[in-house]
Amino acid sequence: MVNTKVTLSGLTLDNPIIPASGTFGFGYEFADLYDINILGSISCKGTTKEPRFGNPTPRIAECTDGMINSVGLQNPGIDKVISEELPKLAKVYSKPVIANISGFSIEEYAYTCEKIDTHPQVGIIEVNISCPNVHNGGMSFGTNPDSAFEVTKAVKAVTKKPVYIKLSPNVTDITEIAKACEAAGADGISLINTLMGMRIDLKTRKPVIANKMGGFSGPAIFPVALRMVYQVFDAVKIPIIGMGGVSSARDVIEMMLAGASAVQVGAANLIDPFASKNIIEQLPEVMAKFGINSLEEIIGGSH
Ligand code: FUM
Repeated sequence: MVNTKVTLSGLTLDNPIIPASGTFGFGYEFADLYDINILGSISCKGTTKEPRFGNPTPRIAECTDGMINSVGLQNPGIDKVISEELPKLAKVYSKPVIANISGFSIEEYAYTCEKIDTHPQVGIIEVNISCPNVHNGGMSFGTNPDSAFEVTKAVKAVTKKPVYIKLSPNVTDITEIAKACEAAGADGISLINTLMGMRIDLKTRKPVIANKMGGFSGPAIFPVALRMVYQVFDAVKIPIIGMGGVSSARDVIEMMLAGASAVQVGAANLIDPFASKNIIEQLPEVMAKFGINSLEEIIGGSH
């Protein structure tokens, strides 16, 4: 019998599989399909201070082995998330969850973090400084070590819960950003968010996406994500949640060998709502095949 348990900042997860923010709603939407309590945890839909309608449509473009999105952080706002969405999730999911928050100023990040901190089911706060689809916020905080430091410091000041900072791959040196977050007190790093991309419609000769560009995700970005997890593992001492194009149990094991303590599954959930469940079910067999008794033992094992 193999051991799939992993630990993140003192929280023990039954397995390392976590549906990624923005690809799994608030989790309860999937509860009619299967028992979502098999999931290691859930990273909930990104939440901002105010409700957001999101970007104009079209917001999605298909690509070979991936997709581009420009959703624009559509969400009901922190107050409704606390009063409506998380209580619905609590009815069908009994484990700690990851709250993913975003903002347009350092004050907004701190405000949303302080509010979500009060929710008992939130085990980890994931701070998204890497959304490529909004102006004056999101990724603009994650592409500069100084602003990454400032956001991290501000959110750490208002919560005692573990804070994981979600990083953008759209930078020259991701280790500099990760080190700045660690220096400001981050408890962990989540990486990677999407890569900036675009498509052009040959008939209209215009960008497919109304916002012109968006975030590219899916299996095509897996080698980029793996490389960055590997680099960040060498650069910091805090745990890493790896993500980016993960679509199989073998990908999960590669991510953990690169240095991830847990793994988020993103675009794969949009292709198949059972993707995270299938990966959890495949894991023991793939572990046995490669002689792995305990997943915790392989973290960073490729270094
Ligand atoms: O547009 C979006 O809502 C995407 C968010 C993200 O990639 O962080």
